[in-house]
Amino acid sequence: MTKINAAITGINAWVPDYILDNKELEKMVDTTDEWILTRTGISERHILKGEGKGTSDLGTEAVKGLLKKTNTSPEEVDLLICATVTPDMQFPATANIISDKVGIKNAFSFDLNAACSGFIYALETASKFVQSGQYKKVVVVGADKMSSIVDYTDRTTCIIFGDGGGAVMLEPTTENVGILDSALYSDGAGRVHLHQKAGGSAKPASHETVDAREHYIYQEGQAVFKFAVTNMADVSVEIMERNNLKSEDIAYLVPHQANLRIIEATARRMGLEKEKVMINIQRYGNTTNGTIPLCLHEWESKLKKGDNVVLAAFGGGFTWGAIYLKWAYDFNS
Ligand code: UT7
Repeated sequence: MTKINAAITGINAWVPDYILDNKELEKMVDTTDEWILTRTGISERHILKGEGKGTSDLGTEAVKGLLKKTNTSPEEVDLLICATVTPDMQFPATANIISDKVGIKNAFSFDLNAACSGFIYALETASKFVQSGQYKKVVVVGADKMSSIVDYTDRTTCIIFGDGGGAVMLEPTTENVGILDSALYSDGAGRVHLHQKAGGSAKPASHETVDAREHYIYQEGQAVFKFAVTNMADVSVEIMERNNLKSEDIAYLVPHQANLRIIEATARRMGLEKEKVMINIQRYGNTTNGTIPLCLHEWESKLKKGDNVVLAAFGGGFTWGAIYLKWAYDFNS
């Protein structure tokens, strides 16, 4: 039987207009542009403003543009998966809301939460649906309105996160391109270092939880940093070795954008020079599930059919992993 691979056949991303730069943050908390830049590599992040606006609005813009770019009508989509930690509501799924707003009617859709690794978890999940032969057009969205869970009085987290999202189209191919391998991991013991204390079933929202500011991101930065540096680099090297990839074989590393120092450490371990690493953290900060599609979108015109690309992420859970894919198209063709 001919092997079916799932290939990315289109990419689009979207960020809101409003830019929150380091200078504005200097007025909000005790920090400096210099501290933020040297410790994280971030200068600006985009923020979604407007009453009633949520992650589905980021995802909807990304998907609308994706359908246009790939010349796909909403009725043709079979499945939509949305990776997010900031769903519009506890339920229904943001994927359902995006599908409704875009006019996707003949598909099933669901959310997937794996914190900052959500986009690569969703991509691997979607690729299995495509490989089954049953699903021909699958949309994977990664989007987060992080500003909805950021405490803008906490200087250790508010400088990091931004809002944004992206979406890819996955389709079957019998060519040797598309998603070829993945290595995904999780360790729930890491939850103590990075979580949101209240608002879930273990601690529902109450006056007390609001007063105690427990509906925001809680992060022990240094502890997370140590795990992120080690695990993201280890899993990226693992996927290289498993596929006999030398550093010269890799066209691009697409790392989750959490901290420039974590990205550089991963690239060093993989033996990659800077030109082969997609980095845009300086302009978007950490958009959680949006980071990888935002990078792919920005580099789309440079990617060539057959390019070996490694996606890598680390995030809350802990969750982490890497995906090896061969890019499936030339931008102008
Ligand atoms: O994407 C999900 C996974 N998340 C991550 O991968 C994030 C991993 N962690 C990090 O990126 C870094 O740990 C942070 C950026 C969060 C913090 O950077 P750091 O270099 O680890 O700083 P630190 O926590 O060790 O703090 C160093 C100092 C402290 O002061 P003292 O105790 O040395 O006097 C902090 O209070 O910097 C202080 N500090 C700040 N100073 C100015 C913390 N935040 C700020 C700030 N501005 N915004």
